[in-house]
Amino acid sequence: MGRLTDHWAALNARYDATKTRPILSLFEVPDRAADFSAQTGDMLFDYSKTNIDTDIRDALMALVDAAGVAAKRDAMFSGEAINDTEGRAVLHTALRNLDGGPVLVDGQDVMPGVHATLERMRGFADQIRSSGVTDVVNIGIGGSDLGPAMAVQALSPYHDGPRCHFVSNVDGAHIADTLRELDAKTTLVIVASKTFTTIETMTNARTAKAWMAEHGGNPAAQFAALSTAEEKTRDFGIPADRVFGFEDWVGGRYSMWGPIGLSLMIAIGPKGFDAFLRGGQAMDRHFRAAAWSENLPVLLALVGIWHAQVCGYASRAVLPYDQRLTRLPDYFQQLEMESNGKGVQMDGSDVEVSSGPIVWGAAGTNGQHAFYQLIHQGTRVVPCEFMIAAEGHEADLAHHHQLLIANCLAQSEALMRGRSLEEARAKMAATGLTGDELERQARHRVFTGNRPSVTLAYPLLDPFVLGQIVALYEHRVFVEGVILGINSYDQWGVELGKELATSLQPVIDGQAGTEGKDGSTAALVDFIHRHQA
Ligand code: F6P
Repeated sequence: MGRLTDHWAALNARYDATKTRPILSLFEVPDRAADFSAQTGDMLFDYSKTNIDTDIRDALMALVDAAGVAAKRDAMFSGEAINDTEGRAVLHTALRNLDGGPVLVDGQDVMPGVHATLERMRGFADQIRSSGVTDVVNIGIGGSDLGPAMAVQALSPYHDGPRCHFVSNVDGAHIADTLRELDAKTTLVIVASKTFTTIETMTNARTAKAWMAEHGGNPAAQFAALSTAEEKTRDFGIPADRVFGFEDWVGGRYSMWGPIGLSLMIAIGPKGFDAFLRGGQAMDRHFRAAAWSENLPVLLALVGIWHAQVCGYASRAVLPYDQRLTRLPDYFQQLEMESNGKGVQMDGSDVEVSSGPIVWGAAGTNGQHAFYQLIHQGTRVVPCEFMIAAEGHEADLAHHHQLLIANCLAQSEALMRGRSLEEARAKMAATGLTGDELERQARHRVFTGNRPSVTLAYPLLDPFVLGQIVALYEHRVFVEGVILGINSYDQWGVELGKELATSLQPVIDGQAGTEGKDGSTAALVDFIHRHQA
């Protein structure tokens, strides 16, 4: 018997008993919307448009307690080595602990170091912002790219520093297309890599260095590095005063709060970056203090667990109704899938249920004209996570924002309500159709409805709110990971592909043969070689 077998069984029984129930019927209970939503500060999380009722919620809360979420949470915040396959603490929260107390790792307070680095980043960002640098190129990948790239775009109304560009892909097209537009004499290149060994990043960094030298720039003065591997940054030729280090207790996909966020700080200024950190810190405090029933990360995690592990919905769509959050689904994709896409529990046994869901999505309203067809009428249920601000930044275009809100709310309503065959028939009858043709056409216009969604609403997408949103999802992933019994902070699943790419490189270069490779790989190599000639 597994550690939570009884709890999963109880939840599965609740699912079986309620799976055909219309979500809409739950609103017959007065105050359903208030009871199945929670707020922290000005941020509202509404999960009333799901099939979760009071019994199910109680069973989910019992799961949280049985999994020991509170103790694990406290262990994380207090610097215990909860990433136990790598023997590391998990302390990205210390990076935003602006006015909190000491945080100890192995008996040492890490906060003086965090503050000192932050202060150096502020000084450097101010200098860059006032020194005639026109463009900043952040070279990094995964967690060293997705967070800052997402946030710089999200906060463009606050962007008053140099232009920022992000190069991640080892495909030469990415760096070539980026550098083509830039002046090497007024460009700052930031090499962002926790390990400073990632092949994509180091290849792009060397290419950028050569480009700068060839085009009249000075790499020794115009490169900066963000890394835990300070020696390697020195070997690359970056002077120590342009290196911003961090510790191994900051995971790559959780790292935008510290040095990896330097491009964001240069874009919006140290004050704006502080507001972003304060948003994250506010969510930390909420996560640590709020009762489970009011705790946004816990509730969001429980909705996730209910849909993915109990109802068996394989994917989850992140749908921000905010054009500036276009990169947020990509960012959450790494956060969730690299953290919780694992099949083995901490103790080495198999996970008891399915692992984390497939996370994908796009900004609304664009997605409505692309994939919402499947979300509304496809045979698979895709739980949706909508996000909407009460106000946009474009005061002179307020009517656009009203339309955006109407669309966001209409989608969650349509998903829940659907359209019955009778309603579809009435629509067809109104067009003059009759008989078999009416029946046939009506069936195409039926929406089963009863498709769950949650909505996160906030006043305005400013740096503080973005900090809240990112920290909310980080903690959600943490709670889900604890319930699944896995280590959300390692990523062994990315290793095999990297190893094989290294061993294939001489084969692709023609310095080694394809002996020992499978027939498909050998044939693909052969095709490439024939067409390279
Ligand atoms: O390949 C996965 C990964 O290790 C991510 O976890 C990480 O965010 C990314 O590569 C980049 O790593 P680094 O910052 O060390 O270059």
